[in-house]
Amino acid sequence: MPDGAIRRVGVLTGGGDCPGLNAVIRAVVKSATNLHGWEIIGIEDGFDGLLEEPRTRQLTLADVRGLLPRGGTILGTTNRANPFVYRADPSAQPVDMSERVVENIDKLGIDALIVIGGEGTLAIAQEFTALGVRLVGVPKTIDNDLAGTDVTFGFDTAVNTATEAIDKLHTTAESHHRVMILEVMGRNAGWIAIESGLAGGADIILVPEIRFSVEGVLAAINARDAGGSKFSIAVVAEHAMPDEGLDLRVEGTEGSGARYAGIGNWLGDHLTNRTQHEVRVTVLGHLQRGGSPSPFDRVLATRFGTEAVRLLADGAFGRMVAYHGPDVESVQLSDCVGTTKTVPPDGEHVRTARALGIYLGD
Ligand code: F6P
Repeated sequence: MPDGAIRRVGVLTGGGDCPGLNAVIRAVVKSATNLHGWEIIGIEDGFDGLLEEPRTRQLTLADVRGLLPRGGTILGTTNRANPFVYRADPSAQPVDMSERVVENIDKLGIDALIVIGGEGTLAIAQEFTALGVRLVGVPKTIDNDLAGTDVTFGFDTAVNTATEAIDKLHTTAESHHRVMILEVMGRNAGWIAIESGLAGGADIILVPEIRFSVEGVLAAINARDAGGSKFSIAVVAEHAMPDEGLDLRVEGTEGSGARYAGIGNWLGDHLTNRTQHEVRVTVLGHLQRGGSPSPFDRVLATRFGTEAVRLLADGAFGRMVAYHGPDVESVQLSDCVGTTKTVPPDGEHVRTARALGIYLGD
């Protein structure tokens, strides 16, 4: 691996996409070009673009024009490829392709990498650090479940989308005296559910961190009836769990790629005919991941991108950019991977919600 001055930097986006990825890429290209005159090489589809024949392209100032408000990632992404346990197809035996990736980095003359990703991608980045690849990590996820940073870009946009949905469900729920269930993302953590639930004035918020009971949900609906509110709004994180347990993992998915689907409808089925209200379920799904980043996320992503460039310039390899409000700083990448930042069941968010009379589980 190169150990001299940096002239050429590779940038990649891995894992599920997220509003603000393009804003980071733009900030990297602009600040690296303006401040250091570095050449930026965009790597396509995460680490996938460094397997086999590399798939890369140079990114100039002209290439990032107009990128700030654009959702998704111009580089493409994938949440399947891990070069350390690579499977050409799902049924194939895993092969370690990491040496090939390192060879390709050398072949491309890339002196250092900026890896923008979530838990899975940053764990891979950490493994490459151990192999001597000079890199820094930029944390992204709408779920906000990455350790080491107060918040990740993409989360604010997702919460805005979910809050807008709750606002809309409110008016129709009230008109029809219905119970409305909104299923939101958050595979391992209930941050989107609890923040959008608080922002949208939900009556019931169910998160993976706190088990709930159908009886408890019914009691909350009945209490609202008794108080004169003839409708209720429940926000349910995709991996919320009833007391008795429930396996809603999508078949064929596992580990950091596990997906969960169906809790909204499961709850809807268990409430139907047990209250005087009709029940309707909305699954918000990937609407939370798409579209233009909020102003907060645009600024955070821009700050993260410029900080990543600053870290490389300082030779601070193996670090991850982090937001410790109000500052953007950095932490050791190895301290963050493998730890999920979940909603503390006895934390301030939960206490706030309970103080408002919101049902969160038992
Ligand atoms: O990691 C973010 C996330 O939004 C999770 O909450 C969700 O389970 C997952 O992505 C779904 O991702 P995909 O459909 O791309 O596998």
